[in-house]
Amino acid sequence: MNFSIPYTNLSSQAAEIKTALLQAVEYVLDSGHYILGPHVSQFEKEFASYCQATHSIGVANGTSALYLVLKALGIKEGDTVITAPNSFIASAAAIALTGAKPVFVDICKDMNMDPSKLEEAITSSTKVIIPVHFTGRPARMPEILAIAKKHHLFVLEDAAQAVGAKLNEKRVGGWGDAASFSFHPLKNLFAYGDAGMITTQHNDLYNILLRTRNHGLKNRNDCESFSFNERLDELHAAMLLVQLKHLEKWTEKRRKLAFRYNTHLQSYVDTPEEGPGEYHVYQTYMIQADHRDRLMKYLNDAGVEAIIHYPTPIHLQTAANYLQYRKEDFPETLNITSRILSLPLHPSMTFEQQDHVIALIRQFYG
Ligand SMILES: Cc1ncc(COP(=O)(O)O)c(C=O)c1O
Repeated sequence: MNFSIPYTNLSSQAAEIKTALLQAVEYVLDSGHYILGPHVSQFEKEFASYCQATHSIGVANGTSALYLVLKALGIKEGDTVITAPNSFIASAAAIALTGAKPVFVDICKDMNMDPSKLEEAITSSTKVIIPVHFTGRPARMPEILAIAKKHHLFVLEDAAQAVGAKLNEKRVGGWGDAASFSFHPLKNLFAYGDAGMITTQHNDLYNILLRTRNHGLKNRNDCESFSFNERLDELHAAMLLVQLKHLEKWTEKRRKLAFRYNTHLQSYVDTPEEGPGEYHVYQTYMIQADHRDRLMKYLNDAGVEAIIHYPTPIHLQTAANYLQYRKEDFPETLNITSRILSLPLHPSMTFEQQDHVIALIRQFYG
């Protein structure tokens, strides 16, 4: 279906900075240096500084970012790793692919991991907690970190959706022991293809990851343990350096649109209001609505591309059958799954387009 108000408009964002992007591409082509060259190093440096993190390691995508950290920590069969059930499947897939068991903790009203339910999920086999900054809203890191510290657990932030988000002025990616980012085209900072990043505060982990993203090679010829090829491409890094310069401006536009939606829709649906100290970056603008399915059809029929993220929580996916979770295990997740709806919101969206979406929603409930 062709939507008059699409969920996102990546080509118009690309058009805005096309000259600079093409210059970056040309520079890489002319340099003859296409793998782990100066652009990857420069992007890692700028990204670490942006996130207020000690180190950054460019990788192939957000899933490999999660997986490589878990593998570097030695996570394996017999271990358990805790995450949230309402995330994108990759948060749990990365755990399962190490052989460890994903264990879920329900969410709170803010759609992020509920710290008050975290401790009861911790057992002697728990090694890592992966809070997800869902939709671009920071998870409750101070409480999560305090519990992790008490139980000597590693905290890996899944910040795939949340580049630039802050809590108490501190950016995501700088809170936990490590964090993973995705630069998938639907993320706020995006590549023209797949790309990802790990940030960490630990020197030893950083040094392991430099090897494990690159076949396990210590230098050109010596390999101490086999690994995958999960490198970030030089071409992606060069274009991401251009994108990074525009991220703050794009985030501000997202926030302006989100506040407008909040103002005009809060008497009709539950809007994502920011909690104290939160700086939400609205990778997804997600409302919770009565008669959600009818509202979505109404909007879609009127040419507005509204989407559900995600209609099936991870614990109810076929892939998770072996974990033997029941629907009712996570009541808050179950409750929001029937109510969530993501509305179009992107930096190229005009206020006129947004007013049209707002008017349709008011009409629906009116
Ligand atoms: C919360 C979350 N984690 C992990 C990922 C995986 O990132 P990628 O698609 O770059 O592998 C995504 C991407 O959609 C995500 O939203």
